[in-house]
Amino acid sequence: MPVPPGFDVDARLAALVDQLQETGALTDPQWREAFLKVPRHRFVPDPVWADDGVRGDGWMVPVGQDDPYWWENVYADFALPTQVDDGIPEGEDERGRYTTSSASQPSRVAAMLEALQVEDGMRVLEIGTATGCNAALLSARLGAENVTSIEIDPALAEQGRAALHAAGWDPCLVVGDGTAGVPECAPYDRVLATVAAKRVPYAWVEQTRPGGLVVTPWGNDYAATGLLRLDVGENGSAWGRIVGDAPFMWLRSQRSAKGPWSDHVDFEAPVRASRTTVEPALVAEAGGGAEFVVGAMVPGLARALFHAEDGSGEYTLWLYDTAGLWASVDYVPGAEKYAVEQAGPRDLWEETEAAYRWWQGRGRPGQGEFGVTLDRDGLRVWLGAAEETVAVLTEHR
Ligand SMILES: C[S@@+](CC[C@H](N)C(=O)[O-])C[C@H]1O[C@@H](n2cnc3c(N)ncnc32)[C@H](O)[C@@H]1O
Repeated sequence: MPVPPGFDVDARLAALVDQLQETGALTDPQWREAFLKVPRHRFVPDPVWADDGVRGDGWMVPVGQDDPYWWENVYADFALPTQVDDGIPEGEDERGRYTTSSASQPSRVAAMLEALQVEDGMRVLEIGTATGCNAALLSARLGAENVTSIEIDPALAEQGRAALHAAGWDPCLVVGDGTAGVPECAPYDRVLATVAAKRVPYAWVEQTRPGGLVVTPWGNDYAATGLLRLDVGENGSAWGRIVGDAPFMWLRSQRSAKGPWSDHVDFEAPVRASRTTVEPALVAEAGGGAEFVVGAMVPGLARALFHAEDGSGEYTLWLYDTAGLWASVDYVPGAEKYAVEQAGPRDLWEETEAAYRWWQGRGRPGQGEFGVTLDRDGLRVWLGAAEETVAVLTEHR
């Protein structure tokens, strides 16, 4: 599809890059130069998916290049879903339910590339090729010969390869599961995941040379995903901190269970009833450091909060995981204690409340005060320079 008459690609690309600079996402002149060499429309496929504004039911509809929406959004600071439901849309008329690949939001791409702190000649492994746009940016900045990128979905990998080739970039492209890295081309100076990890694969550290960096979105079903930057040391371990926000889709093997919270709650299970003095929303909506601590200390936790619609101010907090654990806490305004019900082999509310109290007891530290060490034994979350261990997540092995 040719560029529509009157649509000035160079001007639109320059305007987008200026916008990234003005908003502070893009500060490095060398990355600015790279962005100006990568016209986004050459990578975003036809169609993209967009919310079905007509039915407004949470499904997405395909929008092709013949629609001005496609062009306007390709040169705007938006992420664009480029695949739904792993390539087979679940709804009628190609309507899709879940985004399974996307062209990432340009400002996030810029922030992540800058967080990578590359220098000329460095070798980079990207996890999640998708459209190839980010691999093109890395190629424009470092030379395609220094870029390796892996994509798990063969159809997407082919799409990305074709777009990269047509635009004149030929980095090393691999089809496969990026959680194992790409050992045959290691070591790398930098590993950049453009897909989020709940368990950061140790292979990424192992394949980075000492002194190198691993940058990846990292989170869980409870806490917001942050951009984790790890310094790789001489001894096979890496340590670092969250350096920004990074809402990304999960690695394919680490996806969250589909469906609403009620699908994961066995309402017939025997419950243990108790009471708490802790206002549940104070815990569930504390955000920042509290959310980070609860998410780290209570692995697998997810939540849903429901407000009564009768104006009473009552609400229920549901905590659950996908292995049959759940807890509910009913808030009633003015009450001194709130009713708790817990089911399954562990007490999810007790664990959540304990994690919250631990955070309070440490003076309510912000997310930036926590650090992470990843080595062969797993991932350890710690607080401050004193390295007081908050949680040890050995499933990261
Ligand atoms: C947000 S998109 C990446 C955007 C991409 N870098 C770009 O420039 O368009 C995430 C991609 O990661 C891919 N992915 C998910 N799990 C993966 C895995 N284990 N290994 C490699 N790629 C994976 C998805 O198929 C998806 O295409």
